[in-house]
Amino acid sequence: KIPSKFHYDLNGSIYFEKITKLKEYYVTRIEKKILKQVSNEMKNIFGTNLTFVEFGSGATDKIGILINDQVKFCMPLDISYDFLLKSSIKLAKSFPNLIIMPAYGDYINKFKLPKQISKKRIGFFLGSSIGNFYEKKEKIFLQNARKTLGKNGCLFVGVDLIKNKKIIEKAYNDSKGTTAKFNFNLLSRINKVFKTKLKLKDFKYFSHFNEKNNSVESFLISKKDQKFIIDNKKFFFKKNEKIQTEVSKKFTLNSFKI
Ligand code: AVJ
Repeated sequence: KIPSKFHYDLNGSIYFEKITKLKEYYVTRIEKKILKQVSNEMKNIFGTNLTFVEFGSGATDKIGILINDQVKFCMPLDISYDFLLKSSIKLAKSFPNLIIMPAYGDYINKFKLPKQISKKRIGFFLGSSIGNFYEKKEKIFLQNARKTLGKNGCLFVGVDLIKNKKIIEKAYNDSKGTTAKFNFNLLSRINKVFKTKLKLKDFKYFSHFNEKNNSVESFLISKKDQKFIIDNKKFFFKKNEKIQTEVSKKFTLNSFKI
């Protein structure tokens, strides 16, 4: 099992951006639509001098939908360093009066926020990324986000609801093969980091919606017996052995209550 955070080097973030523009990948498109619908309502709930904190900000265009003149500070947090910088610069150009403080890291951890930001911290965890944790790690995320955001903070979480299996499966197995490339990027990253020589063509991408746990489970499957070496240590794959590359849990309004 590879935790989903490893997808997001620069190439992975670029592939993911491509996914969000696919016809089959409804998650981003629908969520943006919802955010546009609620943006005015949100404006009325919160006061002024706000700090927005986005966990896993990616391209930052979702938070961009919600930013208004009540928001003074914005902290995009992301594990994809180059992408975070690029997106923050873009955000700065769109909102010249906003003070943007990007922070690089794994959002499962507690972040120490700079002293000068306002105490009214509104967190956003969008895209149903809360469904990407293995082994109930979302609980750790939520506990730490609570500490990061502080006493008066609040957190908005975007979740994808269970729907027709075919619609879900198409979203993770698109006709252009972009999602497959996004997953194969993990192998390229392993080759880069560990100087291995895994061949992408010796693996295939497979993903399905498992109705037993309401999760999309994605895999790279070895097409043959093979070995690779890291630091003089040998590792083996059997033919048809699977590497789980992602879990994307889907929710009901009830199952989301933790
Ligand atoms: C990171 C949660 C937005 O799980 O749906 C998209 C990542 N993986 N297609 C998801 C993803 C394959 C995505 N999120």
